[in-house]
Order: sequence, then C-alpha cells, then structure tokens
Amino acid sequence: MITISNLNKTYKSAGESIVALKNINLNIRKGEIFGIIGFSGAGKSTLIRCLNRLEEPDSGRIVIGETVITDLNEKELRLARRKIGMIFQHFNLLDSQTVFQNVAFPLAVAGHPKLYIREKVQELLALVGLEDKGHCYPSQLSGGQKQRVSIARALVNDPDVLLSDEATSALDPQTTYSILELLQDINDKLKLTIVLITHELDVLQHVCDQMAVIEYGAIAETGPVDKLFLHPESYTARRFVSIIDYYRDKRSIMEGMGAGI
Ligand SMILES: Nc1ncnc2c1ncn2[C@@H]1O[C@H](COP(=O)(O)OP(=O)(O)O)[C@@H](O)[C@H]1O
Ligand SMILES: [Mg+2]
Repeated sequence: MITISNLNKTYKSAGESIVALKNINLNIRKGEIFGIIGFSGAGKSTLIRCLNRLEEPDSGRIVIGETVITDLNEKELRLARRKIGMIFQHFNLLDSQTVFQNVAFPLAVAGHPKLYIREKVQELLALVGLEDKGHCYPSQLSGGQKQRVSIARALVNDPDVLLSDEATSALDPQTTYSILELLQDINDKLKLTIVLITHELDVLQHVCDQMAVIEYGAIAETGPVDKLFLHPESYTARRFVSIIDYYRDKRSIMEGMGAGI
C-alpha cells in the first residue's frame, strides 16, 4: 500500500545542514495500523510530512496505492492529497468556525453541493461520536472532542490513508485511549490504512500490528509490536521499553504500599 524507498531529506537553515532522514525504506500494508516511534527530533514529522509532500524529499520514491507520489506535479498532488487525511497534535481547527463548518471546510473548498456536504458532515460527526456538537465552536470542546472533529475533517474525502502525527500527545491517558479506540474503529469500518507517529510506546502497543523505530533520521528497527516489546534491539526501543517497565514497577510498588496512584 505504502512503499518508501531510499528517502532522504536534509534541511538547510542559516548556513547549516540538518540531515533529517537518511535512506529510509519502509513497506506498510493496506488496512494496517502502522506505528512509527522515536524520540523528539528523530525525524518522525519529517517522514510523515514527506508522505504527502508537505515536505519535499531530496531524493527517494514514495508510492501510495497505485500512485507514485514523488512523481506528481502540483495539480496531481493536490488531487492525491484528498485521499491522504492527516491529523495533528494541536488539532489545527479554525476557532472562528463551528464544528460543522470545520468538518465541511475541505468539501466547501472543493465546491460540493450543500446537501451533499450536510449529509457527509452529519455522517462523519456520528462516526466520531459528536452528532450533537455541530453548532459548537472549538473553544467549547474538550481536547478529545477537538481531536474527534479533526479526525472527522480528515475523513471527508474518503481517504485511503490517514496520517497521524502525535495526535494523542496533548491528551490525558484516558482520552488518549478513547481516541485510539476511535482510530481502531475507523480502521476496521473504513478499511483505512493508518500511519501513527508517536513518542509514546504504550500508544503503539494498544493499536498497532507492525511498527518501525526511527533514530537520528534512520530506521533502526522494524517488526511486529510484540516482538519489539519482548526483544528490543535498537537503543531507542530498549530505552522506551525500560521507561515503561520503570513506571509499571513503580506503580506496583506504590499499590503494594497502599498508596494507590
Ligand atoms: N523546517 C525545518 N528547518 C530546519 N530543521 C528542521 C525543520 N524541521 C525539522 N527540522 C530538524 O530536523 C530534525 C527532525 O525533526 P522532526 O522531523 O520534526 O522530528 P520529530 O518529529 O521526530 O521530533 C530535527 O533535528 C529538527 O530540528
Ligand atoms: Mg514531530
């Protein structure tokens, strides 16, 4: 479904070169929830933004479905992007627009008829559990509800792929799980391929089948999530697993002492 071959990206700023991606090769299967994990600055956002060419790679090839993304001209890219939804950590909603208008926005820009827009938006608000919030403004919603609006908006063009860049990083653990459940539900119902980027390993543990670890701009390790948990090989994966173990041990000690955190 998604094939990334020999992808490279270097940023040049103030006379300095920052190598953000080094010869990335990845295969993501259709219908899969694929996790990518790495520490801050590892290159996760650059990688996911290269998939829809919000960042232009320096070299390499990206194929999504039948489309060679890296070969598209600007007009073709605009059309291809409709089939690639994206969600972000800070939701990127328009504060002056209602929930309904935020979700309707890409359809209105594309010039769809009003009736079609109304039906599509209602259908998606129901899918994300916000059917009665269409008239609200983003400031009247919780973080989890805002992310649900942005998920609905990302789905308006019936995309084949949903890219999620730290979509749960600004949410508390309980809300994180409810958003992950929603993504799983959408993956199941719509047969959508989801690329989920995070710096939280437990997020991947709950929803992903396969994952990749990115370290200093390169893929350090790939494989099934369970394998990475049981036998982490890369420095990054070992660090993530040890951090989770640390908090689990700490919690069980505290519970044993009756502190009940
Ligand atoms: N627009 C940019 N200009 C210059 N350097 C950038 C830019 N965006 C990201 N970088 C650098 O590229 C590296 C990877 O960044 P990023 O992809 O944002 O990492 P992550 O999402 O894993 O935190 C970092 O060193 C970062 O500082
Ligand atoms: Mg990032």
